[in-house]
Amino acid sequence: ESGDNVAPSHLDSNTPGASKDAPTTHQALLAWVQQVAELTQPDRVYWVDGSEAENKRLTDELVDAGTLVRLNPEAFPNSFAAFSDPKDVARVEEQTFICSEEKHDAGFTNNWMDPSEMREKLNGLFSGSMRGRTMYVIPFVMGHLEAEDPKFGVEITDSAYVVASMRIMARIGTDVLRKMEELDAFFVPALHSVGAPLAEGEQDVAWPCSDDKWIVHFPEDRSIWSYGSGYGGNALLGKKCYALRIASIMARDEGWLAEHMLILKLTSPEKKDYFVAAAFPSACGKTNLALLDPTIEGWKVETLGDDITWMRFGHNGELRATNPEAGLFGVAPGTGWSTNPNAMRAIAKGNSIFTNVALTDDGGVWWEGMTDEAPAHLTDWLGNEWTPESGRPAAHPNSRFCTPIDQIDMLAEEYHSPDGVPVSAILFGGRRKTTVPLVTQSRDWTNGIFMGSTLSSETTAAAAGQVGVVRRDPMAMLPFMGYDAGDYLRHWITLSGKANQETLPKIFLVNWFRRTADGGFAWPGFGDNSRVLKWVIERIEGTADAVETPIGFVPTGESLDLTGMDMTAADVEAAVHVDPEEWKKELAGIEEWYARFGESLPEDLVAELQTLKERFAAA
Ligand code: GDP
Ligand code: PGA
Ligand code: MN
Repeated sequence: ESGDNVAPSHLDSNTPGASKDAPTTHQALLAWVQQVAELTQPDRVYWVDGSEAENKRLTDELVDAGTLVRLNPEAFPNSFAAFSDPKDVARVEEQTFICSEEKHDAGFTNNWMDPSEMREKLNGLFSGSMRGRTMYVIPFVMGHLEAEDPKFGVEITDSAYVVASMRIMARIGTDVLRKMEELDAFFVPALHSVGAPLAEGEQDVAWPCSDDKWIVHFPEDRSIWSYGSGYGGNALLGKKCYALRIASIMARDEGWLAEHMLILKLTSPEKKDYFVAAAFPSACGKTNLALLDPTIEGWKVETLGDDITWMRFGHNGELRATNPEAGLFGVAPGTGWSTNPNAMRAIAKGNSIFTNVALTDDGGVWWEGMTDEAPAHLTDWLGNEWTPESGRPAAHPNSRFCTPIDQIDMLAEEYHSPDGVPVSAILFGGRRKTTVPLVTQSRDWTNGIFMGSTLSSETTAAAAGQVGVVRRDPMAMLPFMGYDAGDYLRHWITLSGKANQETLPKIFLVNWFRRTADGGFAWPGFGDNSRVLKWVIERIEGTADAVETPIGFVPTGESLDLTGMDMTAADVEAAVHVDPEEWKKELAGIEEWYARFGESLPEDLVAELQTLKERFAAA
C-alpha cells in the first residue's frame, strides 16, 4: 500500500495537484486538492498515510529542521518537544470567525464577516502561501470509522508538526481514505497554512507563522480556513474547529449535540457503572477530572474522553456520548505525579509531542507542578537558562502535552464503542474565586440548562488575552458555538423535549476553584473531586442529603464523604455557601448577559431567571 503514497516530487507550481499520481479515486477530494495546490503553490503535494514509517520520516525531518527536539528515549521514547514562536502560544479568539451567509446566524458571541468578503481576503492570503513548502493532505475521521454516519474531514496543511500532532489527536490516513472512497463520503475541507511562504533559497525558521492570523469557519459549506498559526486549537483543525464549531452546526441540523465535555465512567462499590459528562472552559479541569484517581475506597474511575463529547439520544430516548478524538492535548502546568498520575503514566509511555515546556539537562521535559520541587537547572520554553531563582515560569502557562489516548491505563473499554455510553449526569463548571458553590444540583433539566447557559469562569492562558477576567461561558462553549448562542440553547431545550424524560441526565454546577478568606482553595480538588462525584451519584440514587437554596441543592456538611481528609463539615458548608450579597451581584451579571441575546433567548430560560430572582427575594 505504501507504494501508493509516493510524493509527486515533480510537481511544480504550473502543474499543481498532480492528480494522476494522487492515491485516491474520491473525485471531490481530488478536485479540492488540485484547487488548493493551484492557490497555495507548494513545492510538492504529499498524501499522508498515517503509517509509523511515515511518522518516523516526518519527525526525523522536523528534528533536522529544528522544529522538534528529540527527547531522551530512555525516559520519553519516541517523544519530542516543540517551541513555538512566542507570539503563537494559544487560540486567538479575536481572530476566529463564523462566516454564515446571514450575520444573525453567527450570533453575538462570534466574530462575523460577510462570507464573500472573507473568501476574497482568504484567497489573497493563501495565494502562494505554501511556496517553498510541502503541502500535506491528511484524511481524517472524527469519531469512529465504524460509526453509522462517520464524520470525515481532510486537512491540508503546510506544517509537518500539524501532521505529527493530528496523527495523535485523530484517526487519520489510508484506512480513512479508503472508507471515504467506499462511501463517496462528504468531508469537511479544512485548509491550514502557517502563512510563511519561503522564497527561493530562503532558510526556514523553527516555527514559521504569521502575525496575521485568521481562523475562519463557513457554516453553509462546512469548510474551515486557518491561516498564520501553528498552535493546537488554531491549527489541528479536527479539534476545536471541526469537532466543536462545525460539528455544533451539523448537530443542530441533524439533531444531536457537539459539546466541550469530558466523559468518565464511575463504578460504585456495588459495581454499578455510571457515565458522567462535564463541560468546563479551557484550562479549568477537564483533563484532570477525566483522569481522576479517586481518594475514596471502593470507587473506580475510568476515562472515555477529556475535551470533546458528541451526544445523541438513543433508541430508548437515552442520551449517549462518544469521544470523537484519539488523543489528549492537555495543559502541562499543574499536571504532576501527585495531581494527575494517570496523565503522567500515559505520557511516560512516549509517542508524545510537548509544546512550550521546559527542557531538563538530561533531555527530558519539565513544567510547573510536574514535581513538587523544580530541578536546579532547566532550559525554559524560550530557550533561556533557568533556575528556581529566575522568578519566571520555566514552561509557558499554556504549554501542552499531546499523547495518544490509548496510552491511558484507565481508558474505559467503552471508548472503543461507536454507540457510546448512556450519560447519567452532566456537570457544568467554571473557575470562580467567589459566589459559586463547590457543587449545586439543578432542580430539573431546564433549570440545569439555565445553569449551563449562565456558566461563568475566569479567563485562562488557553486563549490569547487577559487572564483572570470573569466572563459568561455558556456550557463552556463560548469560543466554540458555530452558530447563534440563543439558537444553541434552544437546540438543547427542543432536542431534550423529544427524549425519554425518565432517563434525562441530572445536571449539576461545580466550582473547584472557590477561595477561602485567607486566599487558599476552599476545596482541595483533583482526586478529592471523587467525593463530589460520589455525592452526585448518591443524589441520582436518592440516598444523599442536600440543602435547598435559591440556586438549587447543595450538600449538607455531613453528606460529602470526608473520610481520610482533614476537612470538617463546617469547611464543606463554607465551600457550598450561597451568599445573598454575592448573588445579588451575580443576578445582575446574569441579567446583563441575558440581555445580550436579545430576541433569540429561549422563553424557558427567561422564566428560569425570573424564578431565581423570586427565590432570592423570598429567601
Ligand atoms: P482542561 O483544559 O479543562 O482540560 O483543564 P486541565 O485539567 O488541564 O486543568 C487546567 C488547570 O487547572 C491545571 O493547571 C490544573 O492543575 C488545574 N486544575 C484542574 N483540576 C483542578 C482542581 O480540582 N482544583 C484546582 N485547584 N485546580 C485544578
Ligand atoms: P483547550 O483546547 O484549551 O480547551 O484544552 C486547546 C486548544 O484547542 O487550543
Ligand atoms: Mn484538557
